[in-house]
Amino acid sequence: MLPILLLLSIISLIIIAAMSIYGFCIGAPILFSPKKTTIESLLICQAKPDEKFYDLGAGTGRSMLIAYKKFGLNTHGFELSPVLAFVAKYNLWIHGVKNSTIHLKNFYNANFSDADIVFCFLTPKAMLRLKNKFEKELKTGTRIISYAFNIPDWTPEKIITSGHPGKIYYYLKK
Ligand SMILES: C[S@@+](CC[C@H](N)C(=O)[O-])C[C@H]1O[C@@H](n2cnc3c(N)ncnc32)[C@H](O)[C@@H]1O
Repeated sequence: MLPILLLLSIISLIIIAAMSIYGFCIGAPILFSPKKTTIESLLICQAKPDEKFYDLGAGTGRSMLIAYKKFGLNTHGFELSPVLAFVAKYNLWIHGVKNSTIHLKNFYNANFSDADIVFCFLTPKAMLRLKNKFEKELKTGTRIISYAFNIPDWTPEKIITSGHPGKIYYYLKK
């Protein structure tokens, strides 16, 4: 029994490591934004119940949980790693989150046209790649929060520099 458990643990660790490396190469590593950063981001956006919140790279669903619990948002998370997507689904289910969907999907292949609020905690490379997608797909008035990294060539409505380990960039799609 013990060797089987050990083998399963090693396989799980290898899968997590492989997905982390893949995620890092094409989007962002597995890190979590601080809870108060997500709350402040949604306050800046003046998030209203039932608006559509898109978390690009949902991780364990932490930001989605806050978006639902504190603001009543309808949440969609995109996650590349099956392990994290599973944890996120479980996390949302155990906390009784309704109106939420975890898409086990590369967010570059998703369509963002009905998003009201887009949340990113990614990398400079990912923000550069997303910039074109945002320009093509997002509707006018969509609010975008990027934690830690700016959208190249876009002018933020606001940058919050204090009280958080990284800057919060707030944009409005024109
Ligand atoms: C820095 S974490 C942010 C997690 C969460 N949004 C938060 O703020 O706590 C980035 C997440 O994006 C995922 N990711 C990276 N590139 C992705 C892609 N192209 N499509 C979907 N998920 C991606 C990673 O697996 C990782 O879980």
